[in-house]
Amino acid sequence: MKVLVIGGGGREHAIVWKLSQSRHVDKIYCCPGNAGIAGIAECIDVRQDDFQALLDFVKYEWIDMTIVGPEDPLSKGIVDLFEKEGRPILGPTKAAAQLESSKVFSKDLMRSNGIPTADYKVFTSYLHAEEYVKMKGTPIVIKADGLAAGKGVFIASTMSEAMDALRVIMKERAFGAAGDRVLIEDCLQGEEASFMAFTDGKSIVPMVSSQDHKRIFDGDKGLNTGGMGAYSPAPVVTPELEKVVMEKVMKPTIRALKSEGITYKGILYAGLMIDSNGTPNVLEFNCRLGDPETQPVLSRLDTDLMEIALAISQERLADIAVEWKKEASVCIVASSEGYPGAYRKGDVITGIEEANNVDGVHVFHAGTAFRDGQVVTSGGRVLGVTAIGDDIATARQRAYEAAERIHFDGMHYRRDIASRALNR
Ligand code: AMP
Ligand code: GLY
Repeated sequence: MKVLVIGGGGREHAIVWKLSQSRHVDKIYCCPGNAGIAGIAECIDVRQDDFQALLDFVKYEWIDMTIVGPEDPLSKGIVDLFEKEGRPILGPTKAAAQLESSKVFSKDLMRSNGIPTADYKVFTSYLHAEEYVKMKGTPIVIKADGLAAGKGVFIASTMSEAMDALRVIMKERAFGAAGDRVLIEDCLQGEEASFMAFTDGKSIVPMVSSQDHKRIFDGDKGLNTGGMGAYSPAPVVTPELEKVVMEKVMKPTIRALKSEGITYKGILYAGLMIDSNGTPNVLEFNCRLGDPETQPVLSRLDTDLMEIALAISQERLADIAVEWKKEASVCIVASSEGYPGAYRKGDVITGIEEANNVDGVHVFHAGTAFRDGQVVTSGGRVLGVTAIGDDIATARQRAYEAAERIHFDGMHYRRDIASRALNR
């Protein structure tokens, strides 16, 4: 079978890598891909946002399955177009993807269905928002409603930070229409975990747990990023907690959508905050795999990913067994100098092969490209050095050993990935 993967980050490299091991797959295309993906897939020169051109390509090449990595094409309706034309595609429709593309939609759905989440209010008026923040006090969380590439969330610990956030979103309109509505929610304390599941709209199959590190610097300091590393399993997600999340969050969410006439198919990702009593609250939903959580999570997947994609698409997920390796996995993200702000590009990367030679290691590419036969940096997050091992400590030690073998000018990575899991 032939498969097309949409996206070109570390998550998509991990998806393509896993598909390349499938007994059903003989050819993989990727749009746009990256230098690492190019080694195992054919990277195609079609614009990622030109859905009609992608559909034409799928028809022309007789592609059997399309897998969408990022949220953007999902929120713009790529699945709706492909399904209308009878082309199998993995991901939720535009209506279902609102769970990620509109925080107001998602919070309202949670509130009306008793899904645990922080208390909140929605505002369109700056003055009312300001009044509410003054009444509530700090710390407080202020979010733009729409997609803002992870930058639309402000955790304000002082009143002046809160006012700055309101000004940036509502007055300066830094996120455009994504800031037409603003959510102001209570600030939750606890430990975060990523809970991802496969669903065909009828059954939900949880993936192994994971946790990512959002801040750029060690000790969770500095700006928020797309994720500077991740590990799996996340010890905070005990088997008991997994049951609670399935019963109180995942199943009710799919049911709630169904009652609104929306069938959710694909990947459902709940970002959770787990308090000191082990009670989960939903911070956000994503309608796709996490990046970088996918790198360690798919490293642990034993089942053929194409079989899972086919089962979801044919709504027979309940009939297959999804199996995972017992080993743990750790991914360390190497980023370009300046990220998550304006960053350097075009620096030559060396040592990837040497890193891949460390036992249990696979280096997933994110922002990489070819220039004159050399691999160079081309994005903020450049590589995800991922290792598997008997336990977190082994996987982590291998990943760091591998990361030390890699070099590019301005290379940055956190030294404390997975340390929380070691200290538990
Ligand atoms: P979101 O995109 O909504 O998940 O927010 C991004 C990050 O902001 C989360 O991963 C949390 O670290 C933090 N965050 C979001 N909402 C809250 C909240 N209500 N309380 C505390 N932290 C939050
Ligand atoms: N790593 C967080 C995300 O993918 O949204």
